[in-house]
Formats: sequence, C-alpha cells, structure tokens
Amino acid sequence: MATPSPTILPPNESGIARAAKALRDGGVVAFGTETVYGLGADAGNPQAVSAVFALKQRPAKNPLICHVDGLDMAKTIARVDDHAEGLIRHFWPGPLTLILPYSGGDAVTHTARAGLGTVAIRAPAHPVARALITAVGRPVVAPSANKSGRLSPTSAMMVAEALGQDVPLILGGGRCDIGLESTVLDLTNQPPTILRPGAIMAEDLAAFCPDVQGFQDQSEPNAPASPGLLLRHYAPRLPLRIEVREGPLAADEAFIGFGPNPFPPKGGHSRHSLSPTGDLDEAAQALFGLLKTVEDSGAARIAVAPIPDTGIGLAINDRLRRAAAASQLDSGGQDT
Ligand code: TXA
Ligand code: MG
Repeated sequence: MATPSPTILPPNESGIARAAKALRDGGVVAFGTETVYGLGADAGNPQAVSAVFALKQRPAKNPLICHVDGLDMAKTIARVDDHAEGLIRHFWPGPLTLILPYSGGDAVTHTARAGLGTVAIRAPAHPVARALITAVGRPVVAPSANKSGRLSPTSAMMVAEALGQDVPLILGGGRCDIGLESTVLDLTNQPPTILRPGAIMAEDLAAFCPDVQGFQDQSEPNAPASPGLLLRHYAPRLPLRIEVREGPLAADEAFIGFGPNPFPPKGGHSRHSLSPTGDLDEAAQALFGLLKTVEDSGAARIAVAPIPDTGIGLAINDRLRRAAAASQLDSGGQDT
C-alpha cells in the first residue's frame, strides 16, 4: 500500500492562509525559507511544540529557533538592546539567528527553549515565510524539517521524503536560495560569538560587532555551547570522506567535485559537482540536495573534493566535517 504523502500547499494567498490557520490551531506545518525548510509550530502551544520534538526525534535539551516577522515581534519575546537592534535593522530579514535573553511570558514555551533563559530568533527573508508568520501573528518555532542529525531539506520534496505523512502540510517555497542553515550569533555572552557559520560571516558582522568571535569548531561533543552543534550533525546515510584530492576511488564510491578540477578522470561509482565553475554560493545551495541524490543513487560511500575555506565555504566545510565525523563515529551514518 502506498504511504500517504503530505499535502504541498502552493505559495500563494490561499496556501499561506491555510498554513497559518493550521499553525494557529496547534498543527505542525513545514515551510520554505531562504536557508532550509523549517518544521513550524506555534511557539507558545505546548502540544504543538512537543509534536515538533517528537516528529524530529530531537533531544529535549536542544532548543528550537523562533521565527518572527521583524523587530516588533522579536521584542515581544526577547530583551533587544541597542546593539542587538542595530544588527536586526541591518541583517533582518535574513539568515542571521540571534541568541538573546528571553523576556518571560508564555509566548515561547519552556520546552521550546529547552528550559534556557535565552531564545534563538530570526526573521526569514523568504516572502512566503514572512507572510506566513505575519498571518499567524505570533512567533513560530521552526527547526530544520529533518529528523535529528540528518540532512536539512532544501526543497518541499526533500521534506516529504524525510518526514513522510508525519507532517501533513508543507507550504511550498521552491528551492531554498542559500541552502545552508542560518548563522547563529550568541549575544548573551561577551564577546558575541558565532555558534554556527552560515551565509552571514564574521566579516559582515564586524562593522556592527567589532569584537565578534568567529566560528570555532567545537569538536567536543559533550559540552557544546549551542546544544545543536553536536559534532555528529548533518549526517548523510553513507560514509563520507572530505578533501579528497587524488585516487584511487573505490568502485562503489561516488565523487563530489568542486570547480573545473578534472579529478578523478575515471573510476568510482559516479561523479557529481557542487559547482563546475567553482562558485561557492552555488555549491552551498546544492550541497544537501546533492548529498541526498548521491544517497539514493546506489553508491555505498562518498568522497568530496576540497572546498576553499573562504566566505560561505566555511559553512560548507563545517557541514561536511560533521558529516564525515558522523560516518566515522557509527561507520554507516545511522540516524541520531
Ligand atoms: O536557517 C535556519 O536557522 C533554519 C530555518 C528553518 O530557519 N532553522 C534551523 O533550526 O536550522 P535548527 O533547530 O535546526 O537549528 C537551530 C540551532 C540549533 O543548533 C540549536 O541548538 C541552536 O540553534 N539554538 C536554539 N536555541 C538556542 C539557544 N537558546 N542558545 C544556543 N543555541 C540555540
Ligand atoms: Mg537542524
């Protein structure tokens, strides 16, 4: 018997209205943003928030991001000082998540915050996501719409495949422009620290945050500052090795290249490219979808070419390192 699939709502007025009503009524709805697809729920509804944790199989100690439609809504849940407001005015809407002190009240449940006195907030730039949050009228939690520890989805189809009928509604938003999760900047400690690299980089933030601490890989899985930044995150199902410059490739190994580099001339299971022209933005956008394609291709392992560690390449390499570490830990990339 075929498994029932989720309904993909069109990104128009009626689709947005239906998705907003479902969220206001306590339902769970996946929606597209410019970074990755999120699994949305009313941040103040305990049952809806619990449903998100259950659906994602997310550990209770890993808090959820709240999505708002702008500064005013952010101020209803967090203490936004002048410094934070300056960042918000410049970078929102966009792929910057700020960790701020929670201002109390019930608008974000204790469970959604994993009991912390801080809250992660961002205003997505995707017009459909923004219209959805405005129509809901209150903050919407939306962690990436994948099972915990697996690849974040960058299209409605990837969400449907990752979560199946467990998520009855997906508000389509097309393919995500950026393709990697937002930059997470913690403003609750000095100096302000990047906990997760993304499309907004330390160089971009420096004008507003001269003492910003750039992302430092926390390979200590037991005590990460951001609970979601466990080393074994972002795992494809297949073992993956990185910075592969030369052969030989195993017969069952798929190669993911970058740029005009002709390696490997032959061999391996199949060859793919994140960007034949060596464009890092294109590579970021393609990354999760391509890993999924390779997972489904019949290859048994993945080799990835070196990616320059500049610009958004930092974020790409962060996700790839985690994927490689996950496959070493369980030598098979099991779900976590
Ligand atoms: O681009 C994105 O941020 C996407 C889209 C859907 O907006 N969402 C996303 O959510 O990536 P999620 O839950 O997969 O990642 C949020 C990260 C996690 O690493 C989580 O641990 C961290 O933010 N986080 C949430 N609340 C936090 C807090 N109060 N303090 C520190 N880190 C926090
Ligand atoms: Mg995630």
